[in-house]
Amino acid sequence: MIEFYHVHKQYVKSQFALNDINVTIEKGEFIFLTGASGAGKSTLMKLIFKEELPSKGQILVDSQNINLLPGKQLHKLRRSLGIVFQDFKLLDNRTVAENIAIPLLVQGEKKTYVEKRVGEALALVGLTHRRNYIPSHISGGEQQRVAIARAIVGSPKILLADEPTGNLDTELSVEVFRIFERINANGITVLIATHDHHLMKLFPRRTLRLDKGKLVSDRKSGGESF
Ligand SMILES: Nc1ncnc2c1ncn2[C@@H]1O[C@H](COP(=O)(O)OP(=O)(O)OP(=O)(O)O)[C@@H](O)[C@H]1O
Ligand SMILES: [Mg+2]
Repeated sequence: MIEFYHVHKQYVKSQFALNDINVTIEKGEFIFLTGASGAGKSTLMKLIFKEELPSKGQILVDSQNINLLPGKQLHKLRRSLGIVFQDFKLLDNRTVAENIAIPLLVQGEKKTYVEKRVGEALALVGLTHRRNYIPSHISGGEQQRVAIARAIVGSPKILLADEPTGNLDTELSVEVFRIFERINANGITVLIATHDHHLMKLFPRRTLRLDKGKLVSDRKSGGESF
């Protein structure tokens, strides 16, 4: 479902942010992407939603070469992706429910459908009671869950989350990971960039490790590197 073939990324000459990445992520997988700061985790994610372009190599999403997608198809690709940014990017002049509704409103969905989907997303992240709050009046962990609800409200096929628990304490991080598990159980492919070894231990899953732009290990949960 996501395929990388000899993918390289150079932001500046003579320095590879990603260096010959070859990897296949199957539909429905739950994968951690790890590695030190600067290893290339965010870059790899940005290439999937085409915020950045590879310098070399091919990326296929759903068997389509995303480099070759015309504008309309790119739009469709982006709609099939849910993205959780580390800094949440919530709007403080809107309520929690309105923030979650944004992707659907952008797509021009009908009001009744938007209300139904927002209600479901709120329930999934356990925030129904916060629907009319504004983001700055709820806790950091709750804001993180709002960002997750917004990422999944459009029923994406793939959820990409970049350091989604970077600002949370362990207890809240575990709560957020349980939500990711629930999302994954609904058939959504989940790719999470994280430094958090404790959480990776607690939720053993396939783990891709980057080191200075190279994919240095691809480990099944607790299994061997291959
Ligand atoms: N826009 C950019 N312009 C130039 N260099 C960049 C840019 N974005 C990232 N880089 C460089 O590419 C490399 C990989 O960065 P990236 O942000 O992908 O790492 P990361 O693994 O996500 O790190 P972190 O854990 O700190 O978020 C780093 O050397 C970084 O400095
Ligand atoms: Mg990063």
